[in-house]
Order: sequence, then C-alpha cells, then structure tokens
Amino acid sequence: MKKITRFYKKITLNLKPKINVDKITKNFHSLDEIFNYFGTDKGTNVKNQYDKNSDLVIGHGFAKFYEKHLSNFKNQNFNLLEIGTWLGASSAAFTIYFPQASIYGLDRNFKFNYKSKRIKFINCDLTIEKEFKNLQKFIDNKKFKIIIDDGSHILSHIIKNLKFFLKKVESGCYYIIEDFNAPKDQLHLNDGNNEEIFIDDMLIKIKNKEYFKSKILGQKDQDYLFDNIEVIYTYEGKLKKPLSSNIAFIKKK
Ligand SMILES: C[S@@+](CC[C@H](N)C(=O)[O-])C[C@H]1O[C@@H](n2cnc3c(N)ncnc32)[C@H](O)[C@@H]1O
Repeated sequence: MKKITRFYKKITLNLKPKINVDKITKNFHSLDEIFNYFGTDKGTNVKNQYDKNSDLVIGHGFAKFYEKHLSNFKNQNFNLLEIGTWLGASSAAFTIYFPQASIYGLDRNFKFNYKSKRIKFINCDLTIEKEFKNLQKFIDNKKFKIIIDDGSHILSHIIKNLKFFLKKVESGCYYIIEDFNAPKDQLHLNDGNNEEIFIDDMLIKIKNKEYFKSKILGQKDQDYLFDNIEVIYTYEGKLKKPLSSNIAFIKKK
C-alpha cells in the first residue's frame, strides 16, 4: 500500500506546475535577499513556511555565514547537494546565487515547488535502506563542492549523514550542518540513548583529534574525520531557544 501511495505521490509531483527559476529576472543584492524572496528560513525575514496559518516572521540569518565561506564559488561550475528541501525554497535560492552550479535537492517528501535546467530533485528517504542504496548508486560518480545537511535534525541522522556524505565533498570544499544543536535543544530529536555524542561536542573532539563514544562512527570513521577535515567553523544564527539556530562549516583538506 505504501509503495502505491509513493508511486502516485511521485506522479503528482511530476505533473504539478512548478515555478521556473530560470525565468526569474529580478536583480538581487545579497544572498539574504534571495533567501527572503523564496522564503527559506535561512533568511532573516520570512514567514514560517512550515505553518501556513502563522503570521510570525522568522529566520536563522545564515546568509552572512554562507556568503563568508562560499562567495568564492559563486561563478564556478560545480555540484551542490542539499539534504532536506521542504518546498524547495533553498534549492531555488542557491540556483540563483550560484548561476553556474548544478543544484541537487534531496527530500523524502513530495512538496518540491520549483524547476530549473540546473535543479535536480531527488526523492529519497535516507532511513529506507533501498532508497539510500539507490541514492548511493546515483551519486557514486559525482563529487560536490558543497553539501548541506538541513534534513531531519535527528541526532543519529546527522551523524550518519556526516559519515556518508563528507566523503562526497571535494578537497578544499564544505560540508555544512544546519541547526546542529537541535538534538540538544529539542528532546524529540535526540535518539542517541546516551550512546551518541551531541554534535557541538563531537565537532570539538574532531578539532582536537580526540576519539569519542559512538555506535555510528567507529575508530576508522573517526580517523577519516581527523585526517580529512582541515578546519571547522561554527556560528549561532538569530533564533533563540527552544528553537535551534546554529550552523557548522566543515572544510575538507
Ligand atoms: C528543515 S526542512 C528543509 C528546509 C529547506 N532546506 C529550506 O531551507 O527551506 C527539513 C526537511 O528534511 C526532510 N527530511 C526529514 N527526514 C528525512 C529523511 N529521512 N530523508 C530525507 N529527507 C528527510 C523533511 O521532509 C523536510 O522537508
């Protein structure tokens, strides 16, 4: 039954009219303006895209950190992957900000609202073994200059994503984790059963090359992190507790 529902949802997604990002001619002056235009909460001034009935204006204010680290890539031809697209607002924004890049957006949902010659939406639930295997095949021969984890924000998912996707990042480029303290700040996102370290503590351990307790990351995996990460930058965004607003830029050697 689940399979049939997913099949129909996929067809509906393919048929639904989408906003063509390639036809947007507006001149933007900053990444924050682009984020706000499309309504991703990476911006500073957006309506809550997860609750249509809310008039609350929110935003993490992550654009300044993205611009600080990624403006050098602006006119380069490269692949960007974002895990977790929701409606596709951030995929659309990155398509405008990086006019030569191919943007891959991955989500288990079927809500993607945008299209472009440079956007590829990947429908995949990373927790479903078969779907994850298909994804592995699909990206096997691809490398990415930028991979962003803005997915479930569940502790074990963040760690598993880092384990798998960091290997797909090109040398000198970035793996980014949004809201990395969400599992610490929001109980329901902490599925670590005291067997997994929180991400902020993990990032410090990686910086210091100190082994840490984890069922997901064995000693070899941790060695990979120690040997392949050049530097980690962390920042706090604008939203305050109980919401989470932090972002990590992990630069590969
Ligand atoms: C925070 S939202 C993404 C917001 C989007 N990046 C933006 O800036 O507008 C998180 C997304 O992660 C997706 N997600 C959650 N668990 C997932 C999983 N196991 N596999 C794939 N996507 C997942 C959700 O469906 C949701 O759309």
